[in-house]
Amino acid sequence: MTTITLLDDRTRPPTPKFEGLTHSQKLPGEHLRMIHDHLRQNMDVLARLIERAGQGQTTADEVARETGQLTMVANYRRFGTLCGQYCMFVEAHHGIEDAAIFPRLADRSPVMKAISERLQAEHVVVHGLLEELVDALNTLVSDPAEAHFAAARDTYETLARVLLSHLGYEEEAIGDALGHYGIGV
Ligand SMILES: [Fe+2]
Ligand SMILES: [Fe+2]
Repeated sequence: MTTITLLDDRTRPPTPKFEGLTHSQKLPGEHLRMIHDHLRQNMDVLARLIERAGQGQTTADEVARETGQLTMVANYRRFGTLCGQYCMFVEAHHGIEDAAIFPRLADRSPVMKAISERLQAEHVVVHGLLEELVDALNTLVSDPAEAHFAAARDTYETLARVLLSHLGYEEEAIGDALGHYGIGV
């Protein structure tokens, strides 16, 4: 179980509607979705890797102990490294939003201010989960025990749920607003 305090999706501010956006006004929102799609694909890759690491664990129980250990460690290492890169990508993307996008949106209206504050608060939760996942993976690499694998998988699943929900809400809440207010991504 994660020690990070999660936010309730039901307390998110409602999203504004912007009608009649031109083609070029739709571009920032589309760009945001493209970046998010890349994050979504990465989550799929991580999910498959975890699954395979899980199978390595099962094999280890069934086949000769040493061979199983090697496979497990290799799977864990691979997963750990990929997550390291992926985690940095998420952090960089959120860093740009926090520093360059949300403050500009927040200036435009009280609605956008509320949404920006909520999105930023969600970044803090995602950041906490990423840190927890990196810690769990480091523990796993140094000691590939089943309990450590389960802890890493648990954190991954929470992160996936929280992050995918965040990406969807963010697109809905600020995608069109970016173009409407002339804020590039
Ligand atoms: Fe975000
Ligand atoms: Fe984003």
